[in-house]
Amino acid sequence: MQIIKDAQQARAFRAACTRAGQKLGFVPTMGALHEAHLALAKQSQRDNEATLVSIFVNPTQFNNPEDLEKYPRRVESDLEGLEKAGVDAVYLPSVDDIYGQQVESEPLDLAGLDRGMEGTYRPGHFPGVATVIKRFFEILQPDRAYFGEKDYQQLRVVQHVTQQHQLGVEVIGCETVRTAQGLAMSSRNYRLSKQGWQDALIIPRALEWARQNHALHAPPRLKEGVKNFFTESPLNLEYVEIADAETMRPLQHWTAVAHARIFLAAFCEGVRLIDNQKLF
Ligand code: PAJ
Repeated sequence: MQIIKDAQQARAFRAACTRAGQKLGFVPTMGALHEAHLALAKQSQRDNEATLVSIFVNPTQFNNPEDLEKYPRRVESDLEGLEKAGVDAVYLPSVDDIYGQQVESEPLDLAGLDRGMEGTYRPGHFPGVATVIKRFFEILQPDRAYFGEKDYQQLRVVQHVTQQHQLGVEVIGCETVRTAQGLAMSSRNYRLSKQGWQDALIIPRALEWARQNHALHAPPRLKEGVKNFFTESPLNLEYVEIADAETMRPLQHWTAVAHARIFLAAFCEGVRLIDNQKLF
């Protein structure tokens, strides 16, 4: 497995793939890798001759400096896991490599995809994500890139920026990976106690209830039903929203939408967890 430390080496790796006639699949991550990250890498390995994973805790997407500081960093064990998984290369850029002297987001047009939900509660988050992904795509020019539906709004933002700037990358969304009990895998889960892991199961239960009952209720009533799951729970629900899966606009009615999803964020033992579910 090749360890790539800067953009120059990354470009050389890309050029070598091209010379060898290999398609390059790219999986961007912030490290503290778990099964879901490895599932993205596996999908890339199935689709492409070469797979590169990046590990970079992107400062511009954290609206809270404490969250950035607390973000788990386990590069040594991440590298072991990726080596075992047979990944071809890992890119570990420095902040300077990606941003130079100006560690800030580009003013990109996100077509309102960043307005609701995570965009509302984490101002500046999506401009930061869009900026770092655009830089990565420009440096690596991958054929395909893999993102989890766990962060569905992020997936839509990345698809939009890729199209808008004609970055020439096929952006592929992969299903959310869950524990046997249904909790969406997340690096943040590891900050929960045993009890917290149990309590957090209310999230997938509430979303699954919504999926099964959406035909019976208009979006506002369905959201109320989801909120009710949290009244007796130790979790603090931050938001629940139902949105058009394309535009991310909140829905009041089911009419004139092809695909809708339900999204929520909740605090469990002070840890902020997000999840979402396809309704139709
Ligand atoms: P990170 O949280 O490390 O996630 C990296 C990728 O793994 C993202 O595409 C995310 O959606 C996916 N992922 C995480 N948990 C998942 C799960 N349970 N099921 C499926 N996919 C899952 O998301 C980021 O990093 C960053 O914002 C990044 C895109 C790297 C930009 O900095």
